[in-house]
Amino acid sequence: MTRIGGKLAISLSILALAGLSACGERGAAAPPTAAAALERASAVSQPDGWDQDLKIAPAQDLNPDPHVLEVNLEAKPVELEILPGKKTTVWTYNGQLPGPLLRAQVGDRVIVHFKNSLPVATTIHWHGLRVTNDMDGAPGITQPPVEPGGEFRYEFVLKDAGTYWYHPHVDSAVQVGHGLYGPIVVEDPKDPKAFGDELVLMLSDMSLDDDGQPLPDDNGGQFGVLFGREGSTLLVNGKVRPHLKVRAGKQQRWRVINAARARYFNLRLPNHRFVRLGGDNGLAARSEDLYSIVVSPGERTDAVFTPADPPGSHKVLQWVPFDRGYGSTFNRPREDLFAIDTVDAPPVTPEPIPETLRAIEPLDISGAKEQRLAFTIAIDGKSVVMGFNGTAYEHAQPLEARVGETQVWHLVNDTDFAHPFHLHGFFFQVLDETRVPEWKDTVSVPSKSEMKIAVKFDERPGMWMYHCHILEHADAGMMGHLHVIDPAAPESAPPSAATHMHMPAHVHDAKAVPADAGSSSTDVDRADAQQ
Ligand code: C2O
Ligand code: CU
Ligand code: CU
Repeated sequence: MTRIGGKLAISLSILALAGLSACGERGAAAPPTAAAALERASAVSQPDGWDQDLKIAPAQDLNPDPHVLEVNLEAKPVELEILPGKKTTVWTYNGQLPGPLLRAQVGDRVIVHFKNSLPVATTIHWHGLRVTNDMDGAPGITQPPVEPGGEFRYEFVLKDAGTYWYHPHVDSAVQVGHGLYGPIVVEDPKDPKAFGDELVLMLSDMSLDDDGQPLPDDNGGQFGVLFGREGSTLLVNGKVRPHLKVRAGKQQRWRVINAARARYFNLRLPNHRFVRLGGDNGLAARSEDLYSIVVSPGERTDAVFTPADPPGSHKVLQWVPFDRGYGSTFNRPREDLFAIDTVDAPPVTPEPIPETLRAIEPLDISGAKEQRLAFTIAIDGKSVVMGFNGTAYEHAQPLEARVGETQVWHLVNDTDFAHPFHLHGFFFQVLDETRVPEWKDTVSVPSKSEMKIAVKFDERPGMWMYHCHILEHADAGMMGHLHVIDPAAPESAPPSAATHMHMPAHVHDAKAVPADAGSSSTDVDRADAQQ
């Protein structure tokens, strides 16, 4: 089954706008042959230099084996020009913002030689990838933190197609907020070509003053923790308001990744719809038409964009305030994300997008063990303490599961904010019949709501993490452990409470201040200040 209705409507409106329909076909039943007169999207390429401003350079592959991607990644501070004419010290992988694109095919092996040239300890976490537990990058749990000057070798096989990302897991709000994030695309060679040419859009923000200097990491104080820090400078692939060139009717496949600490991205373009293909774990069961793409922190969306503006037009795709709870939308303007320039070339007829994309079997939840996880926020004297079920991360007992078991988790959110819930290592299904079935690793649980997810623990035992992906919330304690036990392996018996708590406290508590943050600015971040 294909969905041609919407696409045809778009191409006909392009025809009308371009004034190409005035060739005598007017009248009651204008046959679709008018559209057939146009070239098909598949017959033309994207405009020259269409993604030049937005391209994320891939990592250099050091391994001649086509099924092994072997790269060096070095975390290091560099100076970049983010605001015009100003220098900003950014923490990067290999000097790039975002870090290099890791692109490979499902089934390929990845080897990463990681070096830490930051002034503080760090790790790399491979968000969404089903790696073995020892490669998960959780400091003090799956590996020791990599100290300044230290190295670590990561190696794993890419089990699933989809869009993923990598980022540190030490003092995450600070380190991700300073620029440490990079995209991962795992291709499935069987994907229909109709989805169009790919564009990775890694969205984030930074807290900069007018001189391009980063605001202090504790900017906004406890309010910054409670709300999460939304930087005033919006970044698309590390740039402020870059340009994208498109041709009317020629589709593009956007892989959107939200790498911001706390900001939700809600993308909208007047006169356009998007066809959502899926997200975290690649394709969903069906494609779906959307007027806006909403991506919560940590989440991904895979969507086809069909330019429908007449040739020669210039538009700006904007960030639109999204209600993620108290104070998130009131008196906040839309903000520009990137410019879309439609080239002066005749429109083409878009290719139909299949409606059925992938078979997704619902997990069998009969007899599944249920666990309840409530997001909780408490004010303890002057500081905000967050957690699950009233317990902050440091004091929490791990949840338990057995290899092969399926569980149902009730995510309960009575707080005033939405929380993007993320589970490491395993994909889950949201038990909600109004949603198109898909596999996810991150899902936003709206304020004052409950959500049920089903998850099956496959053959990868170990201690895994789950947390809110508003990174200030995670750092303030909204994080927990899940111990997946392999009953056949005696050495993976449940750890004593003492074992898992021997993690060095500084790993999560220290607020390392980068050398460049200085104390020169007391400006309160625009978003934090609720202008
Ligand atoms: Cu992007 Cu612990 O996660
Ligand atoms: Cu993760
Ligand atoms: Cu949260």
